[in-house]
Amino acid sequence: MADASAGGIPLARIAAVVAAERKEYARKHPRSHQRTGNGIAGYYDGVPMHWMRDWPMPFPFVVEEAHGAVLRDVDGNEYADFCLGDTGSMFGHSPPPVAEAIARQASRGLTYMLPTDDAIAVGRLLVERFGLPQWQVATTATDANRFALRAARAATGRAKVLVFNGCYHGTVDETFVRLVDGHAVNRPGLLGQVADLTQLARVVEFNDVPALAEALSHRDVACVIAEPVMTNSCMVLPEPGFHAELRRLTRETGTLLLIDETHTISTGPGGYTRAHGLEPDLFVVGKPVAGGVPASVWGFTDEVARRLDAARAQAPPGHSGMGTTLSANALALAAMRATLERVMTPEAYAHMERLAGRLAAGLQASVSKHRLAWHVVRVGARVEFICAGGPLRNGTEAEAAHAPALERAMHLSLLNRGCLIAPFHNMMLVSPVTMERQVEALCQAFDAAAGRLAGD
Ligand SMILES: Cc1ncc(COP(=O)(O)O)c(C=O)c1O
Repeated sequence: MADASAGGIPLARIAAVVAAERKEYARKHPRSHQRTGNGIAGYYDGVPMHWMRDWPMPFPFVVEEAHGAVLRDVDGNEYADFCLGDTGSMFGHSPPPVAEAIARQASRGLTYMLPTDDAIAVGRLLVERFGLPQWQVATTATDANRFALRAARAATGRAKVLVFNGCYHGTVDETFVRLVDGHAVNRPGLLGQVADLTQLARVVEFNDVPALAEALSHRDVACVIAEPVMTNSCMVLPEPGFHAELRRLTRETGTLLLIDETHTISTGPGGYTRAHGLEPDLFVVGKPVAGGVPASVWGFTDEVARRLDAARAQAPPGHSGMGTTLSANALALAAMRATLERVMTPEAYAHMERLAGRLAAGLQASVSKHRLAWHVVRVGARVEFICAGGPLRNGTEAEAAHAPALERAMHLSLLNRGCLIAPFHNMMLVSPVTMERQVEALCQAFDAAAGRLAGD
């Protein structure tokens, strides 16, 4: 029967593994069960944030503390943390320079809508690191993307945005569209959606240059928003020459290019953009950029600034639609300065790169040993195992490669062996403070879990 297996593993075996692992999880988490087993009182759906329900465990464990890449729960279990807050803690939990900066700022006022010396330093640091001359600070990557898209529309006088099928750029309305049978549709699952988002969006598959050329040829797209590597479901790498074509076509058609590095900042100190010589008009990075304190930045070229100035000169007075009052607060800028100056260093990335290489090789060896038709993919410090063959070419292939039941079995098995990986995808992040022995432990846990599922 076609549907009796997932990722090459019989469903019955997956179900047996999950049942055993759930029991083991419950045994190891009596205190957490008391606190979250029936939902946490006071919260809709029992959690303060709905993603806390998306983990593979039967109920969330309660975190006591986290240091470096080690997380401890109230039941006394310790985990090697390879999820790292889905990138928010990519550089480890409470990096000492960030903790010091937060402590220093904590008694001097947290937010006042005026610059500090940290803000002045951060302006210089952003220009040096990412190579764009104009910056703004926001609170989340979602916000930064929203404001950058608005700026792109204002600068070009065009209405539409082009996204790649299967993308995620935060909860940005324009990007909540998908391709179904070659047509753009509102992404299923959206609640309270009243606008037809497809009116303002074009959607094409990643790596599909002819479709991109056609979509941009109408010259009504203000901006292409893209991750340089698609990371939302299973990782999709750009094919050789794709980025060059994307840049050539956007320039040829007067379309701006926004590169969102919120996840791909795992590549190196200046993101995938600097490592691969991309030349975006607009650039966004959020989540880890202030070491875990909510903050994001969006930058742009002098040419975009000039066109934005021209649009502002034409607009009547009023709110621009960009910015929130807590954006660029003193606490966030203190944390961002510490992160940029002392945490996101070339030495830190060298460690991340080396151990992530080890991890990827270890996982690939287990995949081969157990004769699984899976593959392993890596972008700098970010490693993923994918329970299907590869490489994947686009968002449709990436979504089809997901094997949710099998992935849950793997995640829960790893968790019960002391290794925490990201719940949404099979992402494992190596931080500057991740230890060699944690990588070895994950390789061993993966081998044990994969071997059991393979029936070896
Ligand atoms: C590429 C990308 N951009 C933006 C975001 C949104 O970040 P936030 O949730 O901080 O708004 C995400 C979130 O995972 C992301 O993956």
